[in-house]
Amino acid sequence: MRVLYAASEIMPFASTGGLADVGAGLPKALLARNTEISRIMPLYRRVAEGGFALKDTGLRLDIPVGFQMHQAEVWYANDPPPRTYFIRRDEYFDRSQLYSLPERDYDDNFDRFVFFQKAIVSLIDTLQWHPDVVHCSDWQTGLVPLFLRHGLQGSGRKQTERTVFTIHNLAYQGLFPGLHYSLTNLPFYCFNMDCAEFYGSINCIKAGITSANLVTTVSHTYAQEIRTEEYGCGLHDILAQMGGRLAGVVHGVDYSLWNPAVDPHLAQSYEPDNLDGKKTCKEELIRLMGLTIAADAPLIGMVTRLVDQKGLDILAEAMPKLMKADMGFVLLGAGQDKYQKLCLEWASLWPGRFAARLGYDNPLSHKIEAGADIYMMPSRFEPCGLNQLYSLKYGTIPIVHTTGGLDDTIQDIDSEGREGTGFKFRTYTPEGLLHAVNRALALYRRREIWTSVVRRAMAQDFSWDRAAEEYLRIYQQIMS
Ligand code: ADP
Ligand code: GLC
Repeated sequence: MRVLYAASEIMPFASTGGLADVGAGLPKALLARNTEISRIMPLYRRVAEGGFALKDTGLRLDIPVGFQMHQAEVWYANDPPPRTYFIRRDEYFDRSQLYSLPERDYDDNFDRFVFFQKAIVSLIDTLQWHPDVVHCSDWQTGLVPLFLRHGLQGSGRKQTERTVFTIHNLAYQGLFPGLHYSLTNLPFYCFNMDCAEFYGSINCIKAGITSANLVTTVSHTYAQEIRTEEYGCGLHDILAQMGGRLAGVVHGVDYSLWNPAVDPHLAQSYEPDNLDGKKTCKEELIRLMGLTIAADAPLIGMVTRLVDQKGLDILAEAMPKLMKADMGFVLLGAGQDKYQKLCLEWASLWPGRFAARLGYDNPLSHKIEAGADIYMMPSRFEPCGLNQLYSLKYGTIPIVHTTGGLDDTIQDIDSEGREGTGFKFRTYTPEGLLHAVNRALALYRRREIWTSVVRRAMAQDFSWDRAAEEYLRIYQQIMS
């Protein structure tokens, strides 16, 4: 089985969120199952400057974008395996961010990702390495199935590849003015309501959903939710009619990166039967973030993109009551300006007890997962969510809204802590959230029970093995 995995971000090269973690974990698990797999992504500035052993293939591809012809350089890296190809064109990708500045998206995102996606198809044709399956992810690769079918000029291509399209987040659809459609060079009939068109605009995620052989999303609950008006972001009718062509596959965790027993970012490692290291990590985190709380006071942690999805509206309303309790709160996040300001406001309201770091900081995210007691994840919706899974492994008990992957992966803890792995709340309100926080704080005071809950959380296994097997079955299914 030969697979080409295409995504706009892959760890460790470049990341804005969970999509990149999946691009690391899933291909690695597939490789271990004798799948011949390569990956492909753009060569952003942060890839060029990241200290990776990048090599130039010497290949140059001529890519039509509307009436223009642009050249793509093809670079690659073999470490970490599997091989990753990079599409380089500095005019498009040598920028400080991947998709947007804090105030707005780059205004040529359509040109950038049409170019990237066509370069994928052109590379397949040039390399003569014909994948059986091309696995695409999110809107940035939503047009790939169409380019594979119709070719770079829209005049047709002898397609042998099958396609899987994975929806990581339906809220980001890649919507662009219909006027730009000519940049694709695709036949005009693809710009209709059963394919890439959406109320006069181009909708890239819709193109992926309607044109791939099979569509997956990243949890069972989200696979159901997006068939409803509430979560379907305008595409629920199409999704509701897909039946078995839309499947949910819950992610795994790469435990070589996210495991407190081996994590190089921690002050001290720890394991379920010896939690001393977790105390040290907490002390370090308190010091690092400038908190003044006692070492045994509960500490809540949160690492997040600062966007509406992540439950920051109800958290903001709940904060004044929440911070009345004797506890600390550390937050690491980057994103919308309004939330960045809110974080700074909280830090000045509760100095010594609330601390925020604004920006993207992978080592600090590990320290927070390890050093906190409780993890805050009140997302309004969450297709899968990875931080709740990392939190389990680090014995940091998550508070989650029952939605998407959070509902699939966390079992509610009962009042005696006899079962369950996290504190769930169903009604998406500040009160709902506060109730869950109070349950967590009450159980935290009962130290022996708390420790048994921590050990149970750490024993959960969400390794990639299961998800990789499921994907192999899916690839086989669409090939037969
Ligand atoms: P999403 O993809 O919606 O952001 P996930 O829970 O799937 O949510 O994945 C988020 C990933 O991004 C996690 O690995 C998390 O640790 C990481 N992350 C998010 N924000 C930051 C940040 N500011 N600094 C470091 N890592 C972050
Ligand atoms: C998206 C989702 C998140 C998911 C991640 C990886 O960014 O918001 O829930 O875990 O993709 O699939």
